Amino acid sequence: MAVLGGFAGGERVSPRREKGEAALLKITLPDGSEAWLVTEYEDVRAGLADPRLSLSKDNATSRYTGFKLPPALDRNLLNLDPPDHTRLRRLVGGAFTAHRVARMRDKVGAIADKLLGDVSGTVDLMAAYATPLPVITISDLLGAPADRIGDFRAWTDALITQGSRDAVANMYRFMLDLIAAKRADPGDDLISAMIAARDGDDRLSEDELLSLAFLILWAGYENSVHLIGNSILHTLTHGPTDIEELLRVANPNLHAIRRFPIDDIDIGGQTIPKGQTVLLDIQSANESAAKHLSFGAGIHYCVGAPLARLELEIALDRLFGTFPEVSLAVSPDALVWRDSIRSRGLLALPVTLTA
Ligand code: HEM
Repeated sequence: MAVLGGFAGGERVSPRREKGEAALLKITLPDGSEAWLVTEYEDVRAGLADPRLSLSKDNATSRYTGFKLPPALDRNLLNLDPPDHTRLRRLVGGAFTAHRVARMRDKVGAIADKLLGDVSGTVDLMAAYATPLPVITISDLLGAPADRIGDFRAWTDALITQGSRDAVANMYRFMLDLIAAKRADPGDDLISAMIAARDGDDRLSEDELLSLAFLILWAGYENSVHLIGNSILHTLTHGPTDIEELLRVANPNLHAIRRFPIDDIDIGGQTIPKGQTVLLDIQSANESAAKHLSFGAGIHYCVGAPLARLELEIALDRLFGTFPEVSLAVSPDALVWRDSIRSRGLLALPVTLTA
């Protein structure tokens, strides 16, 4: 049985399907629990949209642990099935509109220009650009005060890299205060829009607001950071390509998409018993097709996809527009990747900038 690893030297050390191998792999996760890794494009696509594959940990019989969040934060879209998911998604969809994202274009451009204005010579683009760009953008979108963005970043990093309980507690308090402030004095931001969101008589409760704000911050941060970092690297090593191809090859989600069957279910010719952990491997799916599933599929399709595309497009345009001669400062083999089963991302991206 294979043990699921992360990335080393840019190569996947995790199981992948070679010709003639099963489409499904039984693996052991770092927490010691077992899981089924689904690797074929069609199986992953079908799995993402299959209502028999639940997101709720209540349906898990495996020892899968995942992130441990306070109850209010744990009841977020990515842990819920219909009908709870349906009503929350409708309410957040009404606030997180295409119009709101389109209005972010100039702001994201200004954030990118500001960050690029502060760098020269040899620089780590993960620290100087790919990380701050999405976190400043998402904090701005949510309506967080500019002087708290540094705290935001530190907590999100501590949460993602160490699962820090203090970081969760700090973030929780911060979000509570922010929601209270927006209730008292609404602004032109996503939290104010979510507070105001109505679906008939329905509206978001305090806990729901909190978990949504938290999810948007968190989902919008890590994935975008690594999508941008991986895409810059791909462009430097392979030349420019279009955004959809970058989403396919530079996808930041590794094996993060987990589900629990509510009945015994057949995938790739194998019966998976009810309650066991199923991991839908977007990365393998993308590698086995000329298209991508990087934003998922079905009812959980990424709410932030338009913003993520916008951020990626602007990040690349501004970087290569400002520094047309930018080049890697180390050989690709020397780059260090995060050791994570969830996220495929670089720890640092040293480049030399020449205007
Ligand atoms: C720009 C910021 C982003 C925000 C605010 C955001 C937000 C979200 C939210 C709220 C969900 C849950 C939707 C639901 O369950 O109904 C979601 C799902 C998802 N997002 Fe994003 N996201 C962002 C960027 C990204 C990026 C860059 C990627 C990868 C390229 C990504 C990949 C996904 C995937 C695969 C899912 C589905 C997960 C599943 O089915 O279990 N997201 N996103």
